Amino acid sequence: MKKALITGIDGQDGSYLAEFLLRKGYKVHGIVRRVAIEDPGYHLWRINHILDKIVIHPGSLESYASMFKIVEKVKPDECYHLAAQSFVSYSFEDEFSTLNTNINGTHFVLSAIKERAPKCKFYFAASSEMFGQAKETPQNETTAFHPRSPYGISKVAGFYLTQNYREAYDLFALSGILFNHESPRRGFEFVSRKISNAVAEIKLGVSNRLHLGNLNAKRDWGFAGDYVRAMWLMLQQDRPEDYVIATGKAHSVKEFAELAFDYAGLNWKKYTIIDKMLYRPSEINVLKGDSGKARKRLDWGPTVTFEGLVKMMVESDLDRVKKMHTKIKR
Ligand code: GDD
Repeated sequence: MKKALITGIDGQDGSYLAEFLLRKGYKVHGIVRRVAIEDPGYHLWRINHILDKIVIHPGSLESYASMFKIVEKVKPDECYHLAAQSFVSYSFEDEFSTLNTNINGTHFVLSAIKERAPKCKFYFAASSEMFGQAKETPQNETTAFHPRSPYGISKVAGFYLTQNYREAYDLFALSGILFNHESPRRGFEFVSRKISNAVAEIKLGVSNRLHLGNLNAKRDWGFAGDYVRAMWLMLQQDRPEDYVIATGKAHSVKEFAELAFDYAGLNWKKYTIIDKMLYRPSEINVLKGDSGKARKRLDWGPTVTFEGLVKMMVESDLDRVKKMHTKIKR
């Protein structure tokens, strides 16, 4: 039985990937922060339903010793390094901890694998944020990086660390350059979930306002469940190579909001307030990916459309807020 180790297994992608690997017959190990284990109801809500099928290890990305011990104990066949400070806005507020956690964390996991599980295949969660102010649209594996946030910079560093471990130590190490991917399990700080949650709360009378920043920013939004399949496919290839994963279609934040409110029979203009405080010091206006290489070589493609994704998220939040509200009333 193959062993997989997932850092950040309690995040959106980690939870979908864990389910996917369990279905493939893997023994799944995951790393979470100790605080998450102390309060699993709150921190582990995305993986509560599979906790009896996986092995959880408490660990800190900030500690080499911690990563080393877990890699040595598990000796995984595949390692998916997903854990990071992944909120771009916050990376401007605390540049230092974002860079420390994201860069050192990746370095620690890579180094531990090199020392204790050199045959392990390593996946690094790179990001379309690395392209930033890109010189070409759509972006593919050859597009130059021009990151526009400390988060983007940390991902560029992780990308090159991964490349260097592949070239210098012959590790099967690669990066998936994933464009935005969302789901009902998305964190509430990201704009897609902020919108779907607000729509549900407004529809059900729990709230009456949605504050948003730059409505004109365009992103290439896909469904997270599709993207974890691509991560796995990358590690099943004969050679370690980097891949862009995207839908190839970009939509603005305004379009997302308009459609989400529409699904609930509401007019977005009535409830949305533009808040300049939510603008980023340096924004990326458009990100749109060309995943031609993945489509051809991995036979990968998205199964959920933009419209399908927005509907899925709004429906799920309507359901959740309704249940929460009924509970409170009782
Ligand atoms: N979060 C947020 N909140 N974003 C807003 C808001 C708001 O109120 N209003 C407008 N936006 C705009 C942001 O300025 C950005 O242009 C866009 O909505 C998307 O923001 P996020 O959902 O926070 O995602 P992101 O694109 O910055 O980053 C996500 O995708 C990357 C992949 O490209 C994150 O998941 C990253 O971790 C990931 O690497």
